[in-house]
Amino acid sequence: MPKLIVTTRDGATSEIETEDGLTVMEAIRDNGFDELLALCGGCCSCATCHVHVDPAFADRLPHMSEDEDDLLESSDHRAPTSRLSCQLSFTPDLDGLMVTIAPED
Ligand code: FES
Repeated sequence: MPKLIVTTRDGATSEIETEDGLTVMEAIRDNGFDELLALCGGCCSCATCHVHVDPAFADRLPHMSEDEDDLLESSDHRAPTSRLSCQLSFTPDLDGLMVTIAPED
């Protein structure tokens, strides 16, 4: 099973197991990280699933859509590594992906 390494807002890091086909948001939410609100359920309309992705994985991530880009633009905490975790589906390539949950807007 692919692994995902999640750092929470208080700096605690945990490794969780996930499945290909799930999104990073689903993997985080299903493992009890309630600070990732994911209010829209993954339809790219809320930006409450904002994470910062370790730069080492940047070239393995799916392309960012215009909608995702627009939503991230509304965040005070946007960084070059920002993504909406509901738009990142797990592929074998992303095994070991490291993300940090972005501060709340
Ligand atoms: S869960 Fe709403 S944009 Fe990702």
